[in-house]
Amino acid sequence: MLVSAILPAFAADYVGSDVCKTCHPDVWANFYRNPHFKSVASGKESPENTGCESCHGPGKAHVEARGGKATIVAFSQLAPDKVLDACLRCHSKTLSRANIRRSSHTEQDVVCSTCHSIHKSPAPKFLLAKAEQRDLCYGCHTSVRAQFSMPFKHRVNEGTIKCTDCHNPHGAFDPTSKMAERPHMMEQSEGNEQPCLKCHIDKRGPFVYEHGSVRVEGCDTCHSAHGSMNARLLRRPVTFTLCLECHNGVGQQGSFGVKFNNGVQRTPSDHNMADPRYRNCTSCHVRIHGSNTSEFFFR
Ligand code: HEC
Ligand code: HEC
Ligand code: HEC
Ligand code: HEC
Ligand code: HEC
Ligand code: HEC
Ligand code: HEC
Ligand code: HEC
Ligand code: HEC
Ligand code: HEC
Repeated sequence: MLVSAILPAFAADYVGSDVCKTCHPDVWANFYRNPHFKSVASGKESPENTGCESCHGPGKAHVEARGGKATIVAFSQLAPDKVLDACLRCHSKTLSRANIRRSSHTEQDVVCSTCHSIHKSPAPKFLLAKAEQRDLCYGCHTSVRAQFSMPFKHRVNEGTIKCTDCHNPHGAFDPTSKMAERPHMMEQSEGNEQPCLKCHIDKRGPFVYEHGSVRVEGCDTCHSAHGSMNARLLRRPVTFTLCLECHNGVGQQGSFGVKFNNGVQRTPSDHNMADPRYRNCTSCHVRIHGSNTSEFFFR
């Protein structure tokens, strides 16, 4: 067990980052580029918030022992939850909003140092991530890679968009309204909207006539966000089968104006499904995501 992790630390136990330099020159050599160097550069923080010791704890015992893993906070020896505690001491403000302690990653012991490398991140723009984001995530989520290689997809592999445009690897923000129904650590845009609306702003509305499913269940009821065999990332190869999943009338005679117990309007009986013209639902219901002028989404 780590002495420094249990014993209360006194100011006198802090030796300052300069002392570490002599025995860990390789770590020190890159440290000036690290955002955590700011505390050293400014010299304005208290010892427990400055430089090496802000994460590794007070160094006196370690230096006196001329090294050792039990004399200092050594992350290689820490249990995942202790790593989380060490980092959240400073990062709780932003990351707790993401409910990081309850995220699926945390639950599976995927913690800060699994994804971030403080000393060996390959490029500054990776925000201390161990690898370029895509490769980092695919490292564990291998099946997702295949989805982004489908004929229709968001171009993550081509670098146009990133996993974190839609997900927050730290967890989901406090769920409100429909977001409560969304697991998968979905990132949210302003006002707790679905992340999709950040980019597809024309789908945002509010519309005078909302399509219930778009607003309530969300974009992924009809679209496979990663990739699909079907154009427009649709979940079904033919559009009308998608529509009929909800507007089906479940075995009852369809007729205009009659609502069903699930509240979804059945497809009217004058829509002859044997007629190919009718099967192309969105050729008439063109504003399928919502409309300001037509309750049936015609324009
Ligand atoms: C923001 C927290 C943080 C700061 C600040 C920090 N370290 Fe680390 N250090 C870590 C973590 C986490 C690891 C575990 C390996 C990793 O994730 O890169 C580590 C690993 C190490 C190791 C083990 C060898 C290695 O490279 O993995 C040494 C030695 C070390 N740090 C020394 C230092 C020194 C010296 C400083 C100051 C120049 C320093 N650390 C500043 C978090 C920090
Ligand atoms: C007199 C030399 C010396 C000084 C000064 C020194 N260290 Fe070390 N440190 C070592 C040695 C040697 C080891 C390797 C211990 C081992 O592998 O068992 C070590 C190991 C570590 C580790 C554990 C790495 C791991 O494997 O997880 C950390 C963290 C660390 N040092 C941080 C620091 C920090 C922070 C400072 C400054 C406060 C510091 N060291 C100052 C010699 C030193
Ligand atoms: C003593 C407080 C403190 C501790 C402990 C701490 N950090 Fe930080 N961290 C900071 C500050 C301050 C910044 C810089 C914020 C800024 O530039 O606005 C930062 C920035 C970062 C960044 C952003 C990198 C970038 O390029 O913008 C990451 C990632 C990060 N920390 C991860 C960690 C991890 C992982 C740990 C635990 C091993 C940790 N931090 C522990 C204070 C801390
Ligand atoms: C599953 C991988 C993963 C885990 C676990 C993880 N991060 Fe991150 N983190 C990332 C990625 C990827 C980014 C870059 C996001 C981007 O490019 O927008 C990031 C960005 C950050 C940033 C900078 C941007 C921001 O959101 O503020 C900080 C700070 C940070 N992480 C700290 C932490 C800390 C502290 C922990 C543990 C408590 C942690 N991360 C756990 C993957 C992870
Ligand atoms: C365009 C937005 C978007 C992007 C970009 C995106 N995702 Fe997703 N992801 C989603 C949505 C929406 C779901 C929920 C889908 C569902 O329920 O079928 C999801 C579900 C998941 C899941 C859980 C379900 C499963 O398939 O196992 C994982 C894991 C995942 N995404 C990982 C990733 C990774 C890794 C990346 C980057 C390589 C990524 N996602 C990029 C939107 C996105
Ligand atoms: C070290 C392995 C590892 C890495 C790296 C990793 N994940 Fe995960 N991820 C997991 C595990 C384990 C789970 C939980 C089990 C599951 O659902 O597969 C998970 C779950 C998820 C989920 C589903 C959450 C849910 O509630 O259904 C998403 C989304 C996700 N990860 C996205 C990402 C993204 C984005 C990255 C890259 C920034 C990433 N992961 C990096 C291991 C990892
Ligand atoms: C970071 C911006 C961004 C986010 C977030 C985003 N998209 Fe996209 N989306 C795009 C871009 C750019 C394209 C253009 C396709 C390309 O890259 O080839 C696209 C294409 C699409 C298409 C296919 C359009 C066509 O004409 O074939 C659909 C459907 C789609 N996105 C749905 C979604 C859904 C659903 C979500 C949320 C889960 C989402 N998008 C999140 C940027 C984004
Ligand atoms: C009720 C099912 C359904 C829902 C829910 C849905 N879409 Fe669509 N979406 C469609 C259909 C069907 C098409 C193809 C329309 C066509 O072929 O004319 C489409 C096409 C698209 C396109 C490409 C064509 C265009 O209009 O730009 C984008 C982008 C898109 N949807 C984004 C979204 C976003 C973002 C959401 C969530 C806000 C969403 N969709 C929710 C059914 C849906
Ligand atoms: C996930 C379920 C779902 C799917 C899939 C779906 N809808 Fe809807 N639709 C609804 C709900 C809920 C409403 C609003 C409740 C109502 O008035 O029936 C609605 C309303 C409508 C309305 C307006 C009805 C009215 O009386 O105001 C039309 C037209 C419509 N949908 C057409 C379509 C078409 C075309 C498709 C296929 C592209 C489709 N819907 C796919 C659930 C769905
Ligand atoms: C040729 C144009 C056309 C096509 C194609 C079409 N519709 Fe319609 N749809 C209409 C018209 C016109 C109405 C207005 C009421 C009516 O005619 O019953 C309507 C109304 C609706 C309504 C609302 C019914 C109500 O009672 O409020 C639903 C639901 C609907 N259509 C679903 C679909 C579905 C699902 C498809 C594809 C299988 C489809 N429509 C294809 C023209 C079309």
